[in-house]
Amino acid sequence: MNYKLLNFKVHGDERGSLVSLESNKNIPFDIKRIYYMYDTSPEWVRGKHAHKKLEQVLIAIDGACTIVLDDGKTRQEILLNRPDAGLYVPVYMWREMKNFSYGCKLMVLASDLYDEKDYIRSYDEFLKEVANA
Ligand code: TYD
Repeated sequence: MNYKLLNFKVHGDERGSLVSLESNKNIPFDIKRIYYMYDTSPEWVRGKHAHKKLEQVLIAIDGACTIVLDDGKTRQEILLNRPDAGLYVPVYMWREMKNFSYGCKLMVLASDLYDEKDYIRSYDEFLKEVANA
């Protein structure tokens, strides 16, 4: 599967830790949008969609959650639980976010502005599109 786990350099000293994220440096695209989820809890599953053009990096900046990735052939679960680790999610990758710890803050860096037309929200439709790609 062509997702990537990114390990960010931590600038740390006795005052604490700092991670810097830069377009086309440690983030593999131009960052056009940032959003984040919070007030989540373990019983809810989010996501359940894929994107046609959008690339994203997901970072659990506080707490933990599980990201399910599915490229139409293989399904894998990735635990995000570190503020210095990112998950690069390429195009045409079905994703679900679940097992949110209480207080989890999941930040998403995106390669484009919000566009509902870029979403594939039906899993059957997603399977058809990847089969025809
Ligand atoms: P939704 O796609 O359901 O979130 P998730 O994929 O995390 O389950 O989005 C929730 C709402 O927020 C929905 O009404 C669309 C809106 N939204 C925006 O307006 N801008 C954005 O950048 C995003 C990601 C969502």
